[in-house]
Amino acid sequence: MSAKVSFKDLGLVNTKEMFRKAFAGKYAIPAYNFNNMEQLQAIVTGCAESDSPFILQVSSGARKYANQTLLRFLAQGASAMLSEMNPHLKFSLHLDHGDSFELCKSCIDTGFSSVMIDGSHFPYEENIVLTKKVVEYAHQFDVTVEGELGVLAGIEDDVHAEHSTYTHPDEVLDFVKRTNVDSLAISIGTSHGANKFKPEQCTRNADGILVPPPLRFDILEEIEKRIPGFPIVLHGSSSVVPKYVQMINQNGGKISDAVGIPEEQLRRAAASSVCKINIDSDGRLVFTAMIRKVFKEKPAEFDPRKYLGPARDELKLMIIEKNKTVLGSAGKGKEIFG
Ligand code: G3H
Ligand code: 13P
Ligand code: ZN
Repeated sequence: MSAKVSFKDLGLVNTKEMFRKAFAGKYAIPAYNFNNMEQLQAIVTGCAESDSPFILQVSSGARKYANQTLLRFLAQGASAMLSEMNPHLKFSLHLDHGDSFELCKSCIDTGFSSVMIDGSHFPYEENIVLTKKVVEYAHQFDVTVEGELGVLAGIEDDVHAEHSTYTHPDEVLDFVKRTNVDSLAISIGTSHGANKFKPEQCTRNADGILVPPPLRFDILEEIEKRIPGFPIVLHGSSSVVPKYVQMINQNGGKISDAVGIPEEQLRRAAASSVCKINIDSDGRLVFTAMIRKVFKEKPAEFDPRKYLGPARDELKLMIIEKNKTVLGSAGKGKEIFG
């Protein structure tokens, strides 16, 4: 077997205890994606200051962008930095949307404490075979695994109520039993990116803001009945904060018809068996908004610290706010790790 770096030696944790506490306490653990140092600094300092457990998420695209070795060491550095800022707090390092056994194995072998194997695009039985293979490898090293059933809709897909991309509640017990996964991502109407719904699927409120169709909490409840107490994951859960979309558009950007998941629906999900909520697009929007603002206000600026710094600081504030008012995870670090 290849040289193995255990997540335990890096001061990281798997998701088991975090999810157990989040379920019992009716909150959710935020999973924030990152690709660069400034995003990482914002996530770590935001969660340290709000004493929130968290999951650092790395997509295969992020690994390629940053260099997989550098990215891993950035995460290890984050663990050391966190222990100086908030000594009892720990986090999980998680592979987001792993698409092969080899990719999951590579992450497990290099210090990730959790991986997602996303077999949701495969036929059911193939999804089971692939997920089970990853689980059998991961569990030897105490690494936790997230599987997925149901396909999230994107703006390019036709999403309508009868569309069969929602998770089928009748499959979840069989899937969880046969694969032995530790958590399950489901599809109940969330979607990736900043344009989660087409305008024609939405209504408009008094301010002209697009209001998306509500999440299918009825499907979530059916799933909860089949696998009571099992940790559920929601992908595609950025709220696409209008303030940042406006800031982008006021400063030379052009993002049309952006729409996210309303915060009150995420709060309702966090209080249910949803133990992990994935947020990537909101971080991207904050970054872009702040960089555009600096460039517009100070066209002569060319020191990266002067535009990446404000982006990082604003992202930290957004993370603190989300942990406090949406996820409910702020202040829970001591309870889990203290
Ligand atoms: O769900 C996908 C995440 O937002 C990661 O996106 O593959 O562009 O890094 P990415
Ligand atoms: P958003 O695009 O809504 O931020 O979703 C991110 C996600 O699900 C990462 O896996
Ligand atoms: Zn996702």
